[in-house]
Amino acid sequence: MAQQKATNITWHEGFNREERWKLLGSKGATLWFTGLSASGKSTIAVALEQTLLQRGVNSYRLDGDNVRFGLNKNLGFSAEDRAENIRRIGEVAKLFADSGTLALTSFISPYRADRDACRELHEKDKVGAIPFIEVFVDTPIEVCEQRDPKGLYKKARAGEIKGFTGIDDPYEAPTKPELVLKPETMSVEESVEACLDMLTKHGIIAKA
Ligand code: ADX
Repeated sequence: MAQQKATNITWHEGFNREERWKLLGSKGATLWFTGLSASGKSTIAVALEQTLLQRGVNSYRLDGDNVRFGLNKNLGFSAEDRAENIRRIGEVAKLFADSGTLALTSFISPYRADRDACRELHEKDKVGAIPFIEVFVDTPIEVCEQRDPKGLYKKARAGEIKGFTGIDDPYEAPTKPELVLKPETMSVEESVEACLDMLTKHGIIAKA
C-alpha cells in the first residue's frame, strides 16, 4: 500500500457523518463487485444503480474501464498498477460512501490483498466503520471467453495482449464474499434483487 509522503499535515474534522446521513436521509456504503473481464460486473452494477436511483437511493457507479480514461489514466495492468488502481478506487468509493452515497465499484480487482485493503480502509475508518460488501460475480473463464464482447480474450490468446486476467495473469477469487452472483444461471434482475436483499439485510436501504 502507498506510503504517506506528505509531512506537516493535520486531519481537519468536518461535518459529522452521522448528522450528514440523517439530514440527507441516506446511508453510505460500498458494494464492491469483483470478477473476470466480461463476467457481467458492469451490467449488474448499471441495472442496480438504475433500480436504486428509481427508488430514490443515491448511488454512483465507478467502473474499471471508465475510470482508466480519467483519474487512473496513468495506470496500466502490471500487478503494481492494478494495486494502485484498486487503492485509489477504494479511497474514492469510501469518500462517496462517507458523503451518504451508495458507491458501486466494478473492477476486476484480481488480487485478494488489494480488495482486503479496501475493506480494511472502510471498516477501520477513523470516524467509524463504513459498510463494505464484496460481491463476487462468479462467471467461469470459459464463459467470459466465449462472450468476449470486446474481443480481448481473442487478442490475449493470440499473444496481442500480455498479462490478461484469466489467461496469463492471475485472478484470486474471494474466499468470503458477502454475496456470490452467478450470471450463468441468474438473470440480471435476479442479481439486482440479490444485491437489494443484501443491502436491506445490512440496514443500508429500507425494505421496498
Ligand atoms: S483491474 O485488474 O485493475 O481491476 P480494471 O477493472 O480496472 O482492472 O480494468 C479491466 C478492463 O480493462 C477489462 O474489462 C478490459 O476491458 C480492459 N483490459 C485491458 N487490458 C487488460 C488486461 N491485461 N487484463 C485485464 N483487463 C484488461
